[in-house]
Amino acid sequence: MQEKQSIHGAWANRWIFILAATGSAVGLGNIWKFPYITGENGGGAFVLVYLVCILLVGVPIMMGEVLVGRRARQSPINAMREIAVESGHSAKWSFVGIMGVLSGFMIFSFYSVVAGWVLHYVAGMASGDFVGIGSEDAGKVFNGLLGDWKTLLIWHSIFVVMVMTVVAGGVNKGLERATRIMMPALFVLLLVLLGYSMNTGHFGAGWNFLFQFDLSKLSWDAVLVALGHSFFTLSLGMGAIMAYGSYMPKKASISSTVLTIAGMDTLVALIAGLAIFPIVFANGMDPGAGPGLMFVTLPVAFGQMAGGQIFGFLFFVLIAVAAWTSAISLMEPAAAWLVETFGMKRSTSCVLLALTVWGLGIMALGSFNFMSDVTFFGMNTFDFLDFATANIMLPLGGIFISLFVGWFVKKRVNLDELALEENGLFYTWYISIRFIAPVAVSIIFLVNLYQKIAG
Ligand code: TRP
Repeated sequence: MQEKQSIHGAWANRWIFILAATGSAVGLGNIWKFPYITGENGGGAFVLVYLVCILLVGVPIMMGEVLVGRRARQSPINAMREIAVESGHSAKWSFVGIMGVLSGFMIFSFYSVVAGWVLHYVAGMASGDFVGIGSEDAGKVFNGLLGDWKTLLIWHSIFVVMVMTVVAGGVNKGLERATRIMMPALFVLLLVLLGYSMNTGHFGAGWNFLFQFDLSKLSWDAVLVALGHSFFTLSLGMGAIMAYGSYMPKKASISSTVLTIAGMDTLVALIAGLAIFPIVFANGMDPGAGPGLMFVTLPVAFGQMAGGQIFGFLFFVLIAVAAWTSAISLMEPAAAWLVETFGMKRSTSCVLLALTVWGLGIMALGSFNFMSDVTFFGMNTFDFLDFATANIMLPLGGIFISLFVGWFVKKRVNLDELALEENGLFYTWYISIRFIAPVAVSIIFLVNLYQKIAG
């Protein structure tokens, strides 16, 4: 039988798929968000819950997404429909893909704003703005940037164009090429920074903060944040990994590739934490400083050190690269869908999508200045987009995907795609995706929703 191919192309080999998916997974979530939410939620206990969520919920759902994408070889909306129909169910399952495209837009819009901050800091580091800066002044610089909508708009626009250009290049000349160049660079930069933190920061204090599991500090809220983050950091719940899976070689094993991707993503988050917290503690700063953590603490640290201008520059380049390879995966599912469904040229579809997310992003960046009094449920637009996606839409997407793969896709199909016999490995996954993942996500999700409404 001729192997089914995606009309968009295919990854050259299994490692390109692993690196591309890791590129999607490793992003602002790992380097910016993970350290600051860990700080806000008291450290160790939060990290432990996060690790459990990755293993028990993230990995099985990621396998489910890859499985559906690779079998259908289409964008998430069409893939969900096709696989549902194949197993004798309603074509309406495509709504999971539609919700995913919507989540992708929403994530992109605030993601691009943060990426814009990063680009601004790349330029600032290059021109020596932070040499010798103290923590108070660094705070002022960051807040000054948030208030300056014109500067934010310029960087946001540049980032949207960067992402659009890669996605418009297609799977091989765009996504794959970007992966081949940027992923090795990312790993090298990360290790250099870890080395710096081990030599100059309070490494022991940073380590203890991350790995001393004090469960008494844990709240329901923190559990929800940890769960939401495990979806966010693995790029799950909206079809990004499903889209990447649709370009994956048939021969490659889904379970081992997914474990590799999740492992690398987790490793990068922990290394980022180990790079940032020792610096935070060495400078007597507050680990619970919130979203500004990385943008205030790191410039101070780099500002004090010999060669800090270069290292600081490199570090923000690293984050920019990570954000770039992730944002690509936020646009790819919608781009592929427009091409498949309306026969649109890829470049046209990318321009349309870029315009849409650019507009939404302006609302997100306005949260800090001209739109600061616009709120949704007590949150500004930026926080609302983050909350609504990471804590509601992605977990919801995850529940639907796990129920779909666990209960609606035929067992034979699952066995076939995973290339497994009915053995222990298969049943471990099958139990996770049928019971553990949907039940755990639903409970945490409902408890939290109840608290939001009641509280
Ligand atoms: N995982 C990325 C990060 O950690 C963000 C991201 C990219 C994402 N694609 C996604 C999140 C799809 C959710 C869904 O920064």
